[in-house]
Amino acid sequence: MTGEVQDITPGSGVLVAVCRERAEGERRVALTPDEVGRLLATGARVRIERGAGSSAGFPDESYALQGAELATDAAAALASADVVLRVAPPGDEEIALLPPAALVLSYLRPLDQPGRVKALAEHGVSALAMELVPRITRAQTMDALSSQANIAGYRAVLVASTHLPRYFPLLMTAAGTVPPAKVLVLGAGVAGLQAIATARRLGAVVSAFDVRPAVREQVESLGARFLEVELAGAAGEAEGGYAKELSQDTQQLQRDLLAEHVAGSDVVVTTALVPGRPAPQLIAADMVASMRPGSVIVDLAAEAGGNCELTVPGETVVRENVTIVGDRNPAAAMPYDASRLYARNLTELLGVCVKDGRVALDADDDVISGCLVCRGGAVVHPAVLERLA
Ligand code: NAI
Repeated sequence: MTGEVQDITPGSGVLVAVCRERAEGERRVALTPDEVGRLLATGARVRIERGAGSSAGFPDESYALQGAELATDAAAALASADVVLRVAPPGDEEIALLPPAALVLSYLRPLDQPGRVKALAEHGVSALAMELVPRITRAQTMDALSSQANIAGYRAVLVASTHLPRYFPLLMTAAGTVPPAKVLVLGAGVAGLQAIATARRLGAVVSAFDVRPAVREQVESLGARFLEVELAGAAGEAEGGYAKELSQDTQQLQRDLLAEHVAGSDVVVTTALVPGRPAPQLIAADMVASMRPGSVIVDLAAEAGGNCELTVPGETVVRENVTIVGDRNPAAAMPYDASRLYARNLTELLGVCVKDGRVALDADDDVISGCLVCRGGAVVHPAVLERLA
């Protein structure tokens, strides 16, 4: 890519459109009333489909009060829009409605479903994938993976606590002493660290493991124990601070070494992911069977296939007397705050895409080049192109 600045929109002040999310179970909205106010202050216009925010707790009037235009349906909201803000990746019918010269900011699942990026490119839009916003200091305010993973980690522990037939904290009562619950967190990235902090706040005894040794200090600073699991030097970090994918043999070794820790836990929260790859399998069926009856596993990797062999993505099931929660989209279960944080991530990213009241994508900008997946009718992101080859 060259460093030229491509003007997409003539005139001053971009028209930003937001539609109601149509994906099953998606309760978030891409723009909240507060962010409408911020966008209007930059000279933009904002048009919202009626009902877009209602499932997240933002009624139409709250948008109108901030100065947004309300549209009766998606087609009316999108008409001649310069920018479209979304949460879930668009389906075929939604892609067909997009104005062909628009810029789309959305989750797009570009690495595991690259065909959608191709379809967007063929439709003519430019698109930025929220999953690919680089994890650099400058882009922290735009980092939707982090804002939503934080919610997922917090919710995972609360969900576990409602399924567990036990207290989390140590309690000394007249009727006897209740020992604290034991919580194990596998994968100590953003979601895992928030799960650790939440479980500690509820009084549980928490331990954790991650293949990246660098997180030990963070785990310990939250008052949890970092497990000693020696993966024969196979663990570690890949480029960009992410985990390396382990070989099948090393994954088996990891399961063997984790078995006793899983068996001794009341709750296991799993968050282990390797970007663009299926989730590593950390808990085999026999490990589930080794847990005490009534124990709970919350598998935050369910959407990527799950960290537990018995997880059913999208469902809560009881297997071997253990409740296994496999929510595909845990952040959507807390849609008010999830939307507020996500909307801020979007408007901050949009701020990098708009210059002097026009959409201008500077391919020399690290943030833009990191997450721009299609432009000018073509797929432009190397990792997406690789997966389409
Ligand atoms: P993620 O959601 O991709 O993965 C979750 C965790 O699973 C990671 O900590 C990973 O090491 C771990 N994992 C992978 N395979 C595993 C296995 N077999 N066993 C146990 N654990 C396994 O990660 P997330 O939360 O998105 O963070 C990834 C990196 O990005 C981290 O280094 C984090 O510190 C960094 N980061 C940087 C930011 C910035 O600089 N702005 C913002 C947020 C995160």
